[in-house]
Amino acid sequence: MAENDVDRFAERFGNRFLTEDDPFNEFPAVGMEPVEAMRLIDEDLVLDGIPERNLATFVTTWMEPEAQRIIAANLHRNFIDHAEYPQTAEIEQRCIRMLAHLFHAPGETTGARTQGSSEAIMLGALSLKWNWRQRREAAGAATDRPNLVFGGDVHVVWEKFCRYFDVEPRIVPLQPDKFTIGAEDVEPHIDENTIGVAAVLGTTFTGHADDIGGINDFLVQLKNDKGLDVPLHIDAASGGFVWPFLYPDHEWDFRLEQVRSINVSGHKYGLVYPGIGWLVFREEADLAPDLVFLENYLGKTDKTFTLNFSTGSAMVLAQYYTLIRFGHAGYSRVMSVMQENAQFLTKRISEIGPFQVIGEGEQQLPLVAFNLAEDVGYDEFDVAWQVAAERGWMLPAYTMPPKADHVRMLRALVKLNLSHALVHTLADDIAEACETLAKKGGATDRERQKVKTGVGY
Ligand SMILES: Cc1ncc(COP(=O)(O)O)c(C=O)c1O
Repeated sequence: MAENDVDRFAERFGNRFLTEDDPFNEFPAVGMEPVEAMRLIDEDLVLDGIPERNLATFVTTWMEPEAQRIIAANLHRNFIDHAEYPQTAEIEQRCIRMLAHLFHAPGETTGARTQGSSEAIMLGALSLKWNWRQRREAAGAATDRPNLVFGGDVHVVWEKFCRYFDVEPRIVPLQPDKFTIGAEDVEPHIDENTIGVAAVLGTTFTGHADDIGGINDFLVQLKNDKGLDVPLHIDAASGGFVWPFLYPDHEWDFRLEQVRSINVSGHKYGLVYPGIGWLVFREEADLAPDLVFLENYLGKTDKTFTLNFSTGSAMVLAQYYTLIRFGHAGYSRVMSVMQENAQFLTKRISEIGPFQVIGEGEQQLPLVAFNLAEDVGYDEFDVAWQVAAERGWMLPAYTMPPKADHVRMLRALVKLNLSHALVHTLADDIAEACETLAKKGGATDRERQKVKTGVGY
């Protein structure tokens, strides 16, 4: 068919790419009609998983229509243009103040809006490194061998920070039956070159918390006995919006003396779509002044403390929406609903038979981490494959970090859109997948390669 005939038919009967390859390699010589571009992308995305069936991600997959309206109406607003959008900048500051209040900061403080917890951790850990160097220089001591102490239960971002910013990672291995860390674990790794200790509130692997109180007590004692002041950063990527509402009496935040900074992902249990995270300091002095840049590039002298420059405002506004829309009472209710459904899923999974639930009854994120209690002829990766193949659930299977890496795990996040009825269905589907596997045996190697294995996102 001649070129212009193709266009003529496409105009009348639809997309020219019904019979031609999509443009996916070379920069397209000519463009296409808006509706064609939209259709092409929509058709591609049909092959993606359905976010509501994604039991792997901590990240929000549903927001209220009013929040969606705020987001859609503000996609064109560059967050970094503080001079042009001063109200947006003020709203960022309100969010930081509200989070500092939620985390019991002792007074006025500072922080930053970030793309997520990863950027917040990079910035927070940089501040630890800068402050450590300043202390060492003031004492006339060497500054060439900084180290950071954390457990094997952290998200990969902590190792990334160490590699990108030249800090020795001192990783406390997990134990075959203990998947979080405490004071006795970090103690042997700390010395005068330790820029800080990172502890997790709500681990990526099982949703439990490190013994933050115990680690704090140990660091206070170290300071009093030996004059070694080692700051504690809390990675509350998921837990920062869960613990204050489900376990308000548990002290893990600025109520503890050595906790100097906290990161939290707004796009996880903060209930906002991806990309929003927060870094909050205990007090202004915890942010190394050298890391703050003054620039007047966009019309007014402004302070910046970010790894990125231009970025959207929509998720900052969406975060402010969720904070004022839900308030303390609303977040408490939402977290309780998720927890209740997670407990219900725990019960149903225990009843299926071959599974054991990890850390049941302990303080935990609203999720169920579980594995097979005995050899049943198939394993956790087979179960993940089978529920995906039969019902499209994205249930991740993975192995734990060293020295618990012989332990396989399945993990189902219970978010607001996993209702009581859907929990029933999910549990039935897992039971049915087990029945299929018991009859036909495990998945093939090719099938197992396709299982969702990522844990932290
Ligand atoms: C404990 C923990 N820290 C950090 C991160 C990274 O967070 P983000 O995806 O917001 O960059 C995650 C992500 O799951 C996490 O679970």
